[in-house]
Amino acid sequence: MNILVVSDLRVYYQTTKGVVKAVDGVDFKVEEGTSVGLAGESGCGKTTLGLSFLKLLPENGAIASGSLMFEGDDIDSLDEKTFREEVRWNRISMIFQGSMNALNPVFKVEDQIAEAIKLHDKKMKKRERIATARDLLRKVDIDPTMGRHYPHEFSGGMRQRAMIAMALACDPHLVIADEPTTALDVIVQKQIMDLLRRLKAEMNLSLVVISHDISVLAELCDYLNIMYAGRIVEWGAIEEIFENPRHHYTHGLISTFPTVEDEERKSTFEFIPGAPPNLLDPPLGCRFHPRCPAATEICRQEPPPEIRRQSEKHYVACHHQRGDLH
Ligand SMILES: Nc1ncnc2c1ncn2[C@@H]1O[C@H](COP(=O)(O)OP(=O)(O)OP(=O)(O)O)[C@@H](O)[C@H]1O
Ligand SMILES: [Mg+2]
Repeated sequence: MNILVVSDLRVYYQTTKGVVKAVDGVDFKVEEGTSVGLAGESGCGKTTLGLSFLKLLPENGAIASGSLMFEGDDIDSLDEKTFREEVRWNRISMIFQGSMNALNPVFKVEDQIAEAIKLHDKKMKKRERIATARDLLRKVDIDPTMGRHYPHEFSGGMRQRAMIAMALACDPHLVIADEPTTALDVIVQKQIMDLLRRLKAEMNLSLVVISHDISVLAELCDYLNIMYAGRIVEWGAIEEIFENPRHHYTHGLISTFPTVEDEERKSTFEFIPGAPPNLLDPPLGCRFHPRCPAATEICRQEPPPEIRRQSEKHYVACHHQRGDLH
């Protein structure tokens, strides 16, 4: 069963320069109990898509069209009060991009986690909330006595664990983890990935993991969505995507990112020439065509059709998908 089904979603930002089409016709789904990756270069719309699941878009952003069904509820049509009281944090929660730097420096860590609990259980006594906060710290492998300390006494990895604890405070069913390992060194990255994997199993979670680093997603996810300039260009079971990438962009991403351990060889996206388009005025046709080695006239003119591969668990949006590797 699918816990989240997003269909033809468009999310636009109004700016003084025009409309930024950050998410522009996205289909996305999460099967219950699975871990789904979302990869793509900076600015392609990953965070915007994640925020739309929690109805937490910035003020100048809004869902322009499409539907978002979460556990059978139409997210977009739920009013803010119902969503806040019944859905956000209780059923779907998020570890925000860069959030480990967002802990308030003047409050103890356990008080901040207790505050997150209070938002949703106003009846719980302070002492109970602190005890729950400490249990959550234990769950993310932090000695609960550390809860009495301030964020600056925590390492980067511990702060990220504390943020994960906060996201789990209300026992959600689906967690969106936006760049959960970015800015951490490679050993801590691995520890956070192991933690997420363990929590997912223990708490029966479904996960969406957002990362520009495809090697992180390779370790954590069952399915992978490749996003380019506001659209999903390829989706499939993780091994399908890695063994048989069909979109030229996916192929570029995979060639660029070796495994997590192989930090030495890890480079940026330089392998793919050019830069992603400006989402104020994206190219016609296939948005990747100005950078694509296989582009022809049709790619410049017409958006690519979505081609479902033989396997039900793989599709690609490309006029000239790459051939079989074998
Ligand atoms: N509040 C905003 N107002 C206007 N444009 C915005 C706003 N937030 C994001 N954008 C634009 O929307 C597009 C998608 O941004 P988003 O943050 O979703 O990308 P991302 O894939 O998460 O990038 P990164 O990997 O850098 O986190 C970008 O072009 C960005 O500049
Ligand atoms: Mg982002």
